[in-house]
Amino acid sequence: MAAPIVNAEYVKEINKARRDLRSIISSKNCAPIMLRLAWHDAGTYDAQTKTGGPNGSIRNEEEYTHGANSGLKIALELCEGVKAKHPKITYADLYQLAGVVAVEVTGGPDISFQPGRKDSNVCPREGRLPDAKKDFQHLRDVFYRMGLSDKDIIALSGGHTLGRAHPERSGFDGPWTQEPLKFDNSYFVELLKGESEGLLKLPSDKTLLEDPEFRRYVELYAKDEDAFFRDYAESHKKLSELGFNPNASAAKACSDSTVLAQGAFGVAIASAVVALSYFYEIRKKMK
Ligand code: HEM
Repeated sequence: MAAPIVNAEYVKEINKARRDLRSIISSKNCAPIMLRLAWHDAGTYDAQTKTGGPNGSIRNEEEYTHGANSGLKIALELCEGVKAKHPKITYADLYQLAGVVAVEVTGGPDISFQPGRKDSNVCPREGRLPDAKKDFQHLRDVFYRMGLSDKDIIALSGGHTLGRAHPERSGFDGPWTQEPLKFDNSYFVELLKGESEGLLKLPSDKTLLEDPEFRRYVELYAKDEDAFFRDYAESHKKLSELGFNPNASAAKACSDSTVLAQGAFGVAIASAVVALSYFYEIRKKMK
């Protein structure tokens, strides 16, 4: 499928969709499943064959019925409502935008979002996403295949600060943190504490403590939330852009629209100041 033309019009639709997503995600408390959707669309990328990745292919039955995607139909349907209002936006952009908004709405870092991803109907073979029962070597195999690094593996695993596992979806049960709708560094704090009543640790979480290089990041993120937020925002952006090169004109359309928005904000402030002084003058005259 062709890439969307990212002009001022497209960026405007993205901004409207962002507002709709904010509202749906806050009112339905669905940030965790929206983040999981964005990650599962992107996390199938294979850097060598340049296949999979954030291309919207997860909307096809062939892919959303993969075992690893169990439950994600809910998130696909929520996104469908936004797509119906903003049909110009590609599914690929919409799912990644939903992931970015999910993190922001729950108090996580701002993640820079560049639109322009192409949709694809070519679904990757089942088995590209990580297996929660396996160890750090498996995590390296899967994330290195995407072209990501050790730091990306640990920072992105911090996504489990949100949400919970559902027995009917994955066979696992429970949240990772005490406040699963708050994006913070508590996933790492809990991981270092060891087993706690009512909280989940997947084998693929616990294995982050077994490799010295991985453990170094777990310890850093547990004690320094700013470092976690900085690295998370960087790794999330990389994940959301696997195999995607935003072109120069798209980047310009986005920066023009930011300038326009800032300009409009400036005009609004100036108008408010003029209006306030006008009322002040009238009140003075009335006294
Ligand atoms: C490192 C390898 C990973 C493994 C093995 C893994 C595995 C899992 C499993 C088994 C679940 C439970 C699904 C359910 O029962 O509903 C889950 C949920 C979740 N995962 Fe991961 N995951 C990994 C990485 C990530 C990454 C990189 C992110 C995001 C950046 C992420 C975000 C989430 C979220 C937000 C949920 C909760 C969904 C909900 O509450 O509905 N995961 N993951």
